[in-house]
Amino acid sequence: MTQSRRITIFDTTLRDGEQSPGASMNLTEKIEIAQALQELGVDVIEAGFPIASPGDFEAVREIAGTIHNISVCGLARCNEKDINRAWEALKIAKHPRIHVFLATSAIHREYKLKMTCEEIIQRAVDGVTLAASYCDDVEFSAEDAVRTEHDFLCRVVEATIRAGARTVNIPDTVGYATPAQMGDTIAMLCNRVPNIDQAVISIHCHNDLGLAVANSLAAVEHGAGQIECTINGLGERAGNCSLEEVVMAMRTRNDVYRCDTGIDSRRLVPTSRLVSGITGMSVQRNKAIVGRNAFSHEAGIHQDGMLKERTTYEIMRPEDVGFSKTDLVLGKHSGRAALANRAKMLGYRLTGEQLQQVFEDFKKLADKKKEIYDGDVVALVEQQLHGMIDECWKLVSFEIISRTGDMPHVKMTLQNGGQAVTEEVTSSGGPIDAAFRAVEKITGLPLACKDYQVRSATIGRDAQGEASLEIEHDGRSYRGLGVSTDTIEATVKALLNAVNRIAVMQKAPANCGECERNDE
Ligand code: KIV
Ligand code: ZN
Repeated sequence: MTQSRRITIFDTTLRDGEQSPGASMNLTEKIEIAQALQELGVDVIEAGFPIASPGDFEAVREIAGTIHNISVCGLARCNEKDINRAWEALKIAKHPRIHVFLATSAIHREYKLKMTCEEIIQRAVDGVTLAASYCDDVEFSAEDAVRTEHDFLCRVVEATIRAGARTVNIPDTVGYATPAQMGDTIAMLCNRVPNIDQAVISIHCHNDLGLAVANSLAAVEHGAGQIECTINGLGERAGNCSLEEVVMAMRTRNDVYRCDTGIDSRRLVPTSRLVSGITGMSVQRNKAIVGRNAFSHEAGIHQDGMLKERTTYEIMRPEDVGFSKTDLVLGKHSGRAALANRAKMLGYRLTGEQLQQVFEDFKKLADKKKEIYDGDVVALVEQQLHGMIDECWKLVSFEIISRTGDMPHVKMTLQNGGQAVTEEVTSSGGPIDAAFRAVEKITGLPLACKDYQVRSATIGRDAQGEASLEIEHDGRSYRGLGVSTDTIEATVKALLNAVNRIAVMQKAPANCGECERNDE
């Protein structure tokens, strides 16, 4: 039997994933995710783009100082200022990696960079040489490689390997490739670049045509040794290759790919939940591997087959990707130890203080609802983890009158520091609009709602409602999450969660002048 090839998993949830509109995370949240990624078993964490903002710099530096078992990577454009800043953030890491990128396709050369092929090669070589003077582990990305002429791509790859790149990444920046084309491109590089054996070929696929996972697998089949991916497939536009899907495809179809990774697959669902809780980007129910329905069998014929022999309709076991085997019920008389145990089984690590808070919420919920399912525990824990920000504004009380034929009326009291403020609002737009207006009036913040969803955390009429929303304020997006058996209260909590994120951002230090985010 041929041996499995070990594929490096490069996770970019904290960099490309954070580029998903509305998915920005604060420092504490990024560290929490980095720790979960280390436990999951990824090989490299791309922690951010240090030149982009003081927040990105700080996050890369903190993660570099916290994560010791795996590589921590920072992104930089191919210029001195970016690379120096990246190294400044990374230098305390035990295993630092500098990732420099420069676009190579004709479209980018002509319209964005206004540079000739010779200038691109020189810039790429200079960038890699500078990065390699700081650390051994340097990755070079030829941005928009998939739309780059093959002859030129070969020259860039050869020159950057000669300059010291240990990994050469071939991004499908715009998600344009097809699997056959991607496979051919990687095979072509393996055949034509004379020093290709001195570097690992990496793949970085975007999902604009829904082909990111298929393209990454095709690249691996033809010789790529590293996959760049994100939890839940987060990322620019339609996102990146989904880590959980690509890993489970290689594991489940090892007969085809003959590849494996260092991922502990039982941590996939908990990590997915952590990321969706923090970013507020919920996972669609039918998402492969980690969606709620991924292992649910609805049709009678399927259920019958499953009862006779699981493998009739199941190619993976739910417990192998981290779904708990049973949905045990907790209730009013369950103690803190039972709750802690359940949260642990579901994959969460809570501090004593977090557990105490979740336990208090659990007791309140148990007074309203007889049976508490895993979904309820997940919702309470995620609300707690997601709400780990300074609570500038707190909900004291609200009252909503919504009557057929009348305009809804809201009376709301919020507290900021020691001061409570009450406002009353009547709105023709419905009770949710009235609640938004009351929060705007009290906080003085204009809040444009870009996305708003409520879904039930579990089955049953007494299920908790999980509200998630996206607010735009001052040109930036902020997400909020709130949970309650009263869906309007869940919405108000979600709104305050987003408002508190705005308040945190307003307190953050202004741009230091070292920081910029543009594409050359
Ligand atoms: O999509 C892309 O090209 C990127 C590079 C910076 C690797 O994200
Ligand atoms: Zn990308």
